[in-house]
Amino acid sequence: MAARPLSEVVRGVDERLGPAGFLKKALKKVFPDHWTFLLGEVAMYSFVIIVLTGIFLTLFFNPSMKDVVYRGSYVPLRGVRMSQAYESTLRISFDVRGGLLVRQLHHWATIVFLGAIIAHMLRNFFTGAFRKPRELNWVIGVILFLLVMLNGLFGYSLPDDLLSGTGIRILEGVLLSIPIVGSYLTMFLFGGAFPGELIIPRLFTIHILLIPLILLALIPLHAVVLTWRQTHTQFPGRGRTDRVVEGKPFWPSFIIKTLAFQMWVFFVISLLAVTFQVNPIWLFGPYNPGHISAGSQPDWYMGWLEGSLRLMPGWEINAFGHTIPLNVLIPALLVPGMLFTVLAVYPFLERWAIGDYRVHNLLDRPRDVPARTGIGMAGVTFYGLLWMAGANDIIAKTFHIPLYGTTWFFRFAVIIGPILAFAISRRVALGLQRREMEMLRHGIESGEIIRRPSGEYEETEHPLDADEEAVIRGRRLPHRLPELEPDRAGVEPKEARSPTARLRRRLNRLYTEDVLPLPDGDHEERPAIESERPSP
Ligand code: HEM
Repeated sequence: MAARPLSEVVRGVDERLGPAGFLKKALKKVFPDHWTFLLGEVAMYSFVIIVLTGIFLTLFFNPSMKDVVYRGSYVPLRGVRMSQAYESTLRISFDVRGGLLVRQLHHWATIVFLGAIIAHMLRNFFTGAFRKPRELNWVIGVILFLLVMLNGLFGYSLPDDLLSGTGIRILEGVLLSIPIVGSYLTMFLFGGAFPGELIIPRLFTIHILLIPLILLALIPLHAVVLTWRQTHTQFPGRGRTDRVVEGKPFWPSFIIKTLAFQMWVFFVISLLAVTFQVNPIWLFGPYNPGHISAGSQPDWYMGWLEGSLRLMPGWEINAFGHTIPLNVLIPALLVPGMLFTVLAVYPFLERWAIGDYRVHNLLDRPRDVPARTGIGMAGVTFYGLLWMAGANDIIAKTFHIPLYGTTWFFRFAVIIGPILAFAISRRVALGLQRREMEMLRHGIESGEIIRRPSGEYEETEHPLDADEEAVIRGRRLPHRLPELEPDRAGVEPKEARSPTARLRRRLNRLYTEDVLPLPDGDHEERPAIESERPSP
């Protein structure tokens, strides 16, 4: 009996808004499956925890820098003068029921969120998921990465404890280093001389309102709308092409799996939050611009910028009554500026170098494009070394090495490390390709040695099974630019002579020269989705 009114309501809604057709199609939509596709989902579900716990914290946090004397239940700080922001964080930690747990959850979810974002970004980079038609989604991803990192920094600055105040002091120094407008910007942000009384309320508004609103608009666009509209990529395999998707339907397989996965993400973050203490601000004490504690470390995702600052020699330019502090400008603004710009434009740069305007729904394996893999590994090494340099004092103390020894080591390592990483990973990718070409030619060595009637010993080999072979054969070769022959007088055509044309050819060679052809020739078994005509 109850079913009839319900079906009436459903029919009524459908007659007015017509969602049935869309839903029927949507529920059957096929989703490819691979464990690496879950990394984006870890990020998404961590964000859900951040929003929920953030709403709770907002109810109790007081973003004010006015002085109060602490009278709460944490005895060692009773009678100490501090800002209301610090006092309210102590209150959340010790006097609000469940407050410390929610702080722990909020902080751990942020740590996992940024870890998942970076892992997800690397998966998209090394598999070429950013290629046409997903360039826009890549660029949105880079913006998300930057915003989430900044919001993490602003968030852990809010309690106004000694550690976070040191972070804000660095922020002030970075702003001051900007030529001409630096001092104006600093006065504008702090509302006067450092620290003033405005920075915490301002960071609070940015942290809980401005950036979250942008994230709430961009994350669904990035993770749901565009991923749905453009379909998800898949790894090469039997029966998979740029047009044919193999996977499980959205309902029930994908939905049930993703909900279960959401529970797992919640579980792991809760386990971390109840097990490992993070940011115990009561041990650091309230912020005082005249104090600093040894061994100060930012949250892990800011470590690379800390390292970048620590490595830079103390260079400054003094001219016309102005000082340009290169020792801050380069490591704190130029290095991250370049890294994020290169990240954002990489899809377009690679497309330009390869001249590949085809739609790619099949992913590359990292070995299939050794140059890209090499560039990615160089970037990872550069980031990783800067990150380690951010803990150079801890490394020096733990291993009893002179502090300046670690600084000099990292100064050289950030230059040599990425070059080595590029060369080694490119060779490894090439080696893996060679092995696969051998496997296609001769099959897999069985370990069984037989003796022929002629007396000769030989190892038997099994041919690859159809699935393994399809994976190797499923690749698409990077596009080689056509050779431009010199004319009869030996003069290169005009379009090959400009510096940009030369650079493009050089890059094209880099991407194409170390890709081995299949033993029986590469053939395009998939029909091209559209013409090779360049489109934006
Ligand atoms: C707030 C941070 C982010 C969230 C919540 C997020 C979430 C997601 C989700 C759920 C998907 C679909 C499933 C998957 O492939 O994992 C996705 C796809 C994608 N994301 Fe992200 N992402 C974030 C940041 C990034 C970043 C930093 C990049 C790169 C710079 C990026 C690039 C991409 C690309 C290219 C796709 C399409 C992948 C494909 O179809 O294979 N995302 N993202």
